[in-house]
Amino acid sequence: MISALVLIIVTAFLIYYILKPKLPPNFPPGPANFPIVGGSLFLSKIGKNTHDAFHKLGDLYGPLTGLYLGNLPAIVINGYEQAKELFARDDFNHRPSIFSVSYPWGGRALGVFFSNGRLWQENRRFALRHLRDFGFGKTSMEGLIHEEAEECIETMNKELKKTKDSVITIHDKFGVSVINILWAIMGGTRYRHDDEEFKKMLNVIQESFRSGSPSGNLVNAYPFLRHFPYFKQNFQALVSGAEAIIEMLEKSIEEHKKNRDPSAPRDLIDVYLQAIEDSKDDPDTVFFKDQLVQLCEDLFAAGAESTSNSIAFCILHMVRNPDCQEKVQKELDAVVGKNRFPSFEDKANLPYTFAVISEAFRISPVAPISVPHMNIEDTKLLGYNVPKGTSVMVNFPSINLDKKYWGDPEVFRPERFLDESGNFIKAKLDHVHGFGAGKRQCLGEPLARMSNYLLVAAVLQRFKFEIVPGQPKPTTDPIDGFTIAPQPFSAKVTPRY
Ligand code: HEM
Repeated sequence: MISALVLIIVTAFLIYYILKPKLPPNFPPGPANFPIVGGSLFLSKIGKNTHDAFHKLGDLYGPLTGLYLGNLPAIVINGYEQAKELFARDDFNHRPSIFSVSYPWGGRALGVFFSNGRLWQENRRFALRHLRDFGFGKTSMEGLIHEEAEECIETMNKELKKTKDSVITIHDKFGVSVINILWAIMGGTRYRHDDEEFKKMLNVIQESFRSGSPSGNLVNAYPFLRHFPYFKQNFQALVSGAEAIIEMLEKSIEEHKKNRDPSAPRDLIDVYLQAIEDSKDDPDTVFFKDQLVQLCEDLFAAGAESTSNSIAFCILHMVRNPDCQEKVQKELDAVVGKNRFPSFEDKANLPYTFAVISEAFRISPVAPISVPHMNIEDTKLLGYNVPKGTSVMVNFPSINLDKKYWGDPEVFRPERFLDESGNFIKAKLDHVHGFGAGKRQCLGEPLARMSNYLLVAAVLQRFKFEIVPGQPKPTTDPIDGFTIAPQPFSAKVTPRY
């Protein structure tokens, strides 16, 4: 009996020892790692959500923390200088392969977000060049964004007419506008804001973002788990958003094929179809149909949720800080007036409005953790050994909420971005991160910033947003996921004119 017990204990120890992740010598310090889950249990114990846990790793282990996420070595970076070093390094420009992302393509990493090598480089360059040609982030987009602002305001006015107390939900008001802006560039049709089918699809996309996590989840580390209860559901939520968008994109691409005129491309899909045609005899071509679908899906998925949640967070901060909201509205009234929407050109004359948008993004960056970067050769980072295949992520709040730089980082105080004469201090934006930097920097940043500014300014010009009478301030604590979202919130909304 005793010898059987000893045998069980010794075997258990042996299995534990064999499965326990082996950290390389001189790897950054970090928590204990257990077989299968690595340091994930520790993370769930120390933080309210992934980025909160990553933040605490910084307090516990310093700017670089080494740990295992599932079965993969990872480094979490907390700190401005350390993040700058990572983003400047071309040897960390690879992306790890993520099972749930490549699953719809039979294991191929397509698109630009998670692709690598020549496929990534040439498609990123192609997308940037042609998106610019179609007005991406330029003033020519302004009219389109203003049309969406008008629709958005009209939808809110219609909803307000149906209420007795002028209370409506806010978190869900910007998704359709942002998608219509993205869709217009890519080549899709415009959706009405009350289209029920479209709203359903939007929900599926949002669900899939809430089910993910920048640090990955167990199904991505151990794909066989997707066949088991609980994991099956989680995995389905993760891939169903992508599958819904892929279906819609494939339909649109087929329509483009039927009626495009090669001499007059209308949008990104048209120019890409031409690139496929032009390279059809090249066996090494990086332009092909599945790649086009995933490229559009990347732009759509990366841009829609993040931008609309950014706008919603900004309005949330306005509800919580009525004095700041009043100052924005005074500035808008004085500079823009009431007869037109704020324009791109007004930007320079709206320093307070800009300070508010920057402060909201500093406190609530919707992608708080960079997409994982990876090295494909053994290397060193800031003196530590980094074995090939390590995922390296930056925790942006460690920069945006750095006490040493900001003094009172938790306080919403737009004035921190203004000098004594009320001018916007652009240099401070260097310490507000959320789009990454270097060669993997967000490809949609100009469009995201422009849509954010024009839509926020337009709705603040037209409406006053207040705390719902008798209720506490809506919380800034986010819902966690691949990106973060504000918790559903409502406000008392009063048209200003
Ligand atoms: C507020 C809005 C947005 C935020 C906060 C955001 C944030 C980010 C972040 C943090 C990354 C990863 C950077 C890194 O790996 O270091 C990224 C990558 C990317 N973003 Fe955005 N993004 C936003 C909007 C958009 C929009 C509107 C688009 C498309 C139209 C877009 C397209 C992409 C793409 C394609 C990548 C992958 C780039 C690559 O790997 O080469 N994003 N974004």
